[in-house]
Amino acid sequence: MTVGIDLIHFATADYYLGLDTFAQEKGTELEKYTIGIGQEKMSIAPPDEDIVTLAAKAARPILDQINPDAISSVLFATESGVDQSKSAGTYLHGLLGLSPHCRTVELKHACYGGTAALQMACALVKANPKEQILVIAADIAKYDVDSSGEATQGCGAVAMLVKAEPRILAIEPGSGYYTEDVMDFWRPNHRTTALVDGKYSTKVYLNSLKQAWQHFVSQTGRRFEQIDAFCYHIPFSRMSEKAHKALTKVAGMTLDKERFFAQIQPGQRYNRVLGNSYSASLFIGFCSFLDNAPGDLTEKRFGLFSYGSGCVAEFLTGVIQHGYQDVLMRQSHQAQIDARTPLNYQQYLDFYYPTITDPDNVAFEVHNRGAYRLAGIGHAIRRYQRRA
Ligand code: HMG
Repeated sequence: MTVGIDLIHFATADYYLGLDTFAQEKGTELEKYTIGIGQEKMSIAPPDEDIVTLAAKAARPILDQINPDAISSVLFATESGVDQSKSAGTYLHGLLGLSPHCRTVELKHACYGGTAALQMACALVKANPKEQILVIAADIAKYDVDSSGEATQGCGAVAMLVKAEPRILAIEPGSGYYTEDVMDFWRPNHRTTALVDGKYSTKVYLNSLKQAWQHFVSQTGRRFEQIDAFCYHIPFSRMSEKAHKALTKVAGMTLDKERFFAQIQPGQRYNRVLGNSYSASLFIGFCSFLDNAPGDLTEKRFGLFSYGSGCVAEFLTGVIQHGYQDVLMRQSHQAQIDARTPLNYQQYLDFYYPTITDPDNVAFEVHNRGAYRLAGIGHAIRRYQRRA
């Protein structure tokens, strides 16, 4: 029995801040962003958009293609949680009208949470092949104004249906993983923005890649040459180039430029214009690869590297299934990206730092144009709205 990703779809916000606008505001050369970190735009969520509405928008087209009552679990990965106790998965369960006979839980480890959810979903399906699991990875990346991370903000949610005999990616047994207690990026409970030691975080990311890869090789016996394409966690698109360079070096490979970029470039395209979406980033990169690769990927083996600051990393592989192209949702992905409205710098600040006098009682202006929005909070209870 194969187990893995049967359907995958992502959603992002209706607004973006261009790095050209950002560079002008900061008095920085635009090339620092477009070339130096490889970013052009960042998706910006208005106050009436949160991880739950993004997740609902990501999941809806999947549920429209299956019997929603068949969903046996919702595993919701995020580091932008909206409640310290209640799972975002339960809000999502209500908004999507899922069966009461469905488990929901929220998982967290920085950007690694989505991969943890995917691996747990695969294990649940292996234990009981009747399970059909909705895995969500959703985040809104926020750093302090004028911090090094500000240019790498963004947001997005990925929904994946994980089941037996999947139509897109069969996850292979065995993986390599690595944990180290480090302070490269973190967000204490009282903060809405993350703290980061930017340059140190890139070093820890690359060391974790090396460690996870070596563990992967020792666990599975697979070699670099047996992998056709690589998707990395993408905090900014240049990072995946640094990662691929580091991996080829540790694997003792010398690739010409064309092969080097062919193995990663289709996966950078969406992230370049969305920004970091933390736990969703790796999987948006995977969608980007599937949607934008020039040739047929059937039977190609993908290497997926997941990194979550703090830190946990995992390297795993999967094989693309026959007929995968028939179930991709390429048009929806591109349409959302194209339909976004540009913001000026002040509008971005107004979205990210709205004046709220009483956070337990607030009504949000309508900005979010999607099918699900956060209408407000009353007596500390979040009120979501579903549109026809
Ligand atoms: P910085 O320090 O402001 O930038 O921010 P810089 O001065 O290092 O410049 C960046 C690059 O642009 C450099 O290239 C410059 O040379 C180049 P590199 O040395 O890297 O090859 N550059 C230019 N290129 C062309 N024309 C120019 C020009 N000017 C400069 N005119 C930093 C960089 C990564 C520190 C910042 O973006 C940051 O703090 N980001 C947030 C942290 C981050 O994304 N870390 C990545 C690894 S950790 C991770 O991925 C986990 C995370 O997603 C969180 C989670 O797990 O939840 C963050």
